[in-house]
Amino acid sequence: MTQFSIIEPITENDLADYYRIRYEILRKPWNQPSATTKDDTEHLSVHLLVRDENGKAVATGRMQFNSPTEAQIRSMAVIDGYQGKGIGSFIIQHLEKIAASKNIKQILLDSRENAVSFYLKNGYEIEAPSYLLFGEIKHFRMIKYL
Ligand SMILES: CC(C)(COP(=O)(O)OP(=O)(O)OC[C@H]1O[C@@H](n2cnc3c(N)ncnc32)[C@H](O)[C@@H]1OP(=O)(O)O)[C@@H](O)C(=O)NCCC(=O)NCCS
Repeated sequence: MTQFSIIEPITENDLADYYRIRYEILRKPWNQPSATTKDDTEHLSVHLLVRDENGKAVATGRMQFNSPTEAQIRSMAVIDGYQGKGIGSFIIQHLEKIAASKNIKQILLDSRENAVSFYLKNGYEIEAPSYLLFGEIKHFRMIKYL
């Protein structure tokens, strides 16, 4: 992963890239308005943006803190052409280090059906089916204890 850098987006440019990727990968293919990209828990989260060696923004991830001991992974998105290269796992590992440093005991997430095996590979276990997004994307509640 030396060719990829991971940062917390703070500048206007980084934030624009961060929210653009979230929109393009997680919302646009289902014709959702861009205004739906941000939710009301952005301020409770650590946000991560990955750039390649040329500075191109290629992936996002986010950890929301639900309580002093529980965190939630959200907004995992790797752009087309960069999926399957280990970038998603790189983000998960970084988020888990942040969680451990804050004494978080459990990390949960709601995985889209297509990503369940990705999270299984990263040590998350399926708890139960959860919600249906945009009337068609099945989700599964998954959890990892630190
Ligand atoms: C799901 C996603 C975040 C995974 O990130 P990634 O960088 O592609 O995944 P990695 O390269 O780290 O994959 C790790 C492993 O998961 C496996 N995997 C399982 N399902 C996968 C999927 N849907 N996409 C990519 N890899 C997947 C890979 O085969 C790989 O296994 P390996 O290391 O034995 O080869 C990314 O593919 C993505 O953004 N997909 C589209 C949006 C999405 O579904 N986001 C998740 C919302 S819950």
